[in-house]
Formats: sequence, C-alpha cells, structure tokens
Amino acid sequence: MTDRSSESLVAAAKETLTAGIAASGGQVWLACSFSLEDVAIIDIAHHAGISLRIFALDTGRLNEETYEVADALVERYHLPIVWYFPQHGAVEQLERADGLFSFRESLEKRHVCCGIRKVEPLSRALHGVSGWVTGMRREQSITRTDLVSFGPDDLNGGIIKINPLLEWREGDLLAYTESRRLPKNRLYNQGYRSIGCAPCTRAVEAGEDARAGRWWWENPEQKECGLHRR
Ligand code: ADX
Ligand code: SF4
Repeated sequence: MTDRSSESLVAAAKETLTAGIAASGGQVWLACSFSLEDVAIIDIAHHAGISLRIFALDTGRLNEETYEVADALVERYHLPIVWYFPQHGAVEQLERADGLFSFRESLEKRHVCCGIRKVEPLSRALHGVSGWVTGMRREQSITRTDLVSFGPDDLNGGIIKINPLLEWREGDLLAYTESRRLPKNRLYNQGYRSIGCAPCTRAVEAGEDARAGRWWWENPEQKECGLHRR
C-alpha cells in the first residue's frame, strides 16, 4: 500500500470486511481482545453499517483494565459482547496439578494453559460460524508476515478469516484511536504495546519490539498462543 492516509487505510479496512463477509456467505463474528486494533474495527464497521457480532474469550487471567474497555464499548456502541469461558473442570485440574504459573515452566506447559483458556473456547465460539474477523497486523510479528487480508482458515475448518487492519502500522492505529477518541486500555499509557493475559504480558522498554512484553521469556518465533497458529 502506497497511500497511508487515514482515509485510505479506513477504506481498505471496509473493503476487506465487505469482501471477506461476502466470501463467507454467512454470519461473521469479530474476535475481540479489546486491543486498539479490535476497537478500531468495531468503530469502522459501526460507521460503515457493517454488521459484526462480537465475542471475547475470558481466559480468567485478563487485566481489570481490559474489562473496563469491554464496558466502555458496550456503553458507546450498544453492542452485545458474547463471552466464552474455559471449561471449569479443565482449569481446576490444571491449577490443582500444576499450580497457578505452570505456563512459565516450559513452552509445552504454556501451550497447555493457552489450549485450555483460549483455543478450546475459541473452537466453541466459531462453531457454526461462516467467518471471523481478527485485529492481526502484518508488522506485529515475524509469525504474522505471511498473513492475507482474508481467506479460508485451515485451523478452523476452512471458514473465512478476515484481517481488515493487515497493513496498518502501530502509528496509524494510534492516530485513528486519538482522532475518534476511542476507548483505550489504560495499560497502553503504562508502556504496554500488546495486551494479552495479565501474567503473560508486561510493559516494554523504549527500543524493544512491540510484542516483547508478551511471553517475554520465550523466543519471538514461538510467541503465538494457538488462536492463530498451532
Ligand atoms: S495472541 O494470539 O498473541 O494472543 P493478539 O493479542 O496479538 O493474539 O491478538 C490478535 C487478535 O486475536 C485480536 O485482534 C483478536 O482478534 C484475537 N484475540 C486475541 N485474544 C483474544 C481474546 N481473549 N478474545 C477474543 N479474541 C482474541
Ligand atoms: Fe495461560 Fe498465559 Fe496463555 Fe493466558 S496467555 S492462556 S495465562 S499461558
């Protein structure tokens, strides 16, 4: 993309949403983590009259500040958010057997926790759905450089996965958030640049990568939780 004006980025996002929804041929849901990205997508869709249902995965380990954004969104857009929770039996078993911070012990244990708290609930959220929208952007990570704006999602039965902000950069997103005065997680003002579960996310230092604060004890090429890559 050569034209990086806000108008052209918003137009590209709308175009991707419209084309992706048409390709899905049915109901499309936004997976919302209450990031700047997801809030911008809700705002763009709302103003374009594009119908998106919204679900969120409550892992049980989210920050208070994240729930505050959820509340602010409901108030601003009057949209219902459908929450999904992990199976309580699986969480009980995990915490009784391995404790509360087993995800720090090894990559395998981290994937077990993400599997229980994110991936299994995601599979229920996507059951019977034709397509889903995410806030993933190409610049976020070396694991995301080969993303496409929309296409079949092999991890989830071939339903259409739509990434309307694919070519947006962090600066574009911050500018859009400011100009539209969108609800913003307070943690962004405390040095956080990518926000997931509380115990697996920290603020980053100047000069660090935006996702350096996610699972900071792991290598960059391992930093996916299973929602988008397994
Ligand atoms: S993650 O895989 O590393 O956790 P990231 O935080 O970058 O993902 O978010 C990418 C996209 O995944 C979000 O824009 C959102 O669409 C989806 N997502 C991530 N976490 C959640 C969640 N808890 N609930 C719903 N969607 C989520
Ligand atoms: Fe568990 Fe951390 Fe994954 Fe959240 S991000 S599900 S706490 S390992």
